Amino acid sequence: MNEQTLVIIKPDGVARRLTGRIIQRLEDKGLTITDIKMTTMTAELAKEHYQHLQGRPFFDELIAFMTSGPVVYLIIEGPQAVAVVRRMIGATNSLEAEPGTIRGDFGLSGTQNIIHASDTPENARLELLRFFTQSD
Ligand code: PPS
Repeated sequence: MNEQTLVIIKPDGVARRLTGRIIQRLEDKGLTITDIKMTTMTAELAKEHYQHLQGRPFFDELIAFMTSGPVVYLIIEGPQAVAVVRRMIGATNSLEAEPGTIRGDFGLSGTQNIIHASDTPENARLELLRFFTQSD
């Protein structure tokens, strides 16, 4: 059954001009992009998106990074899209991400890890609502 998930190409991914290659990988896999937009994330939305991490030592740095430049939001659709895309992006820390994954192939940083993807179908629903309804 088809499922939707949210992908965010983070400011480092956009600045490094990786958007095209990331989209190509997702489409090569057979996934469908059903919506796309580029904008700079507001601090308010970034804090809401990462609210579960409030109090962690890297929280302020994470919010500053995510609001530092434009990001690309993608709605991705396909069978088990949430799990499939999570496998494609690789481990959170790019230094530990397997080669062949997006972070493993393009990243060398913990915080600046190129891409975000929803981790569960429930979070995907919330994140799609957050970034494609509330902010439009
Ligand atoms: S948890 O509680 O650690 O499992 O949090 P998680 O849901 O995996 O999300 C962590 C997000 O914070 C970003 N981030 C960092 N994580 C760990 N350590 C450091 N130093 C750090 N800096 C930033 C990390 O990229 C995750 O963001 P997303 O956008 O979900 O990838």
